[in-house]
Amino acid sequence: MRRSPLLSPLDEQSVHDLVGLMTASRMERGDVLFREGEQGDRLYVITEGKIKLGRTSVDGRENLLSILGPGEMFGELSLFDLGPRTATATAIAETQLLALGNDQLHDVIARHPRVAMALMALLAGRLRRTNENLADLVFTDVPGRVAKALLELSSRFGRPVEEGVLVAHDLTQEELAQLVGASRETVNKALADFATRGWIRLEARAVLLLDVERLQRRAR
Ligand code: CMP
Repeated sequence: MRRSPLLSPLDEQSVHDLVGLMTASRMERGDVLFREGEQGDRLYVITEGKIKLGRTSVDGRENLLSILGPGEMFGELSLFDLGPRTATATAIAETQLLALGNDQLHDVIARHPRVAMALMALLAGRLRRTNENLADLVFTDVPGRVAKALLELSSRFGRPVEEGVLVAHDLTQEELAQLVGASRETVNKALADFATRGWIRLEARAVLLLDVERLQRRAR
């Protein structure tokens, strides 16, 4: 939580005051917090669990923009540009959140300009990642994108274990395919191929990375 861009620039007392202004909520897997297109009046920080951010096409297909975990923030875009929510936020595990209203956000930015800098750094990081994802969709084949998605999930949710890195991502194979931006069949084929080569081992809603170096090479 303390690492969130909203709180990391603040001293102990200001963190305490700000958290006091935030409202806590709890969600189960599958609960929808808000939908793409709705008006937004608050942002959220995840204290526990995971949130998927997704968009739906006119014909009902889904694409996942990101999976966020503890300490991460979302829902700020519609506060900054006063537009509608750009994605639907759904819990994919038991999740706890803290919400901060628009007025309080403006107040904290006015009193602590370093928070504005931290928020800009977060937005810059997301734009970089989005640019990279866009380039990958054009230039990188599906197995390369699958390798990259596994490594990115690992940087968020990975935990070192004896055989490698255990990534408890909580995603179904369908959701993993939506994150990669390819069909479930193609993504499953890539995963099965990685498993046959001994680079990964598939587990329920988790994957064990056995050879990170090979995955990194495949992701390039
Ligand atoms: P908002 O548009 O209010 O609601 C959806 C949220 O998803 C958005 O704010 C951002 O916080 C987050 N979001 C949108 N696009 C991306 C992206 N490409 N990567 C990570 N997070 C995103």
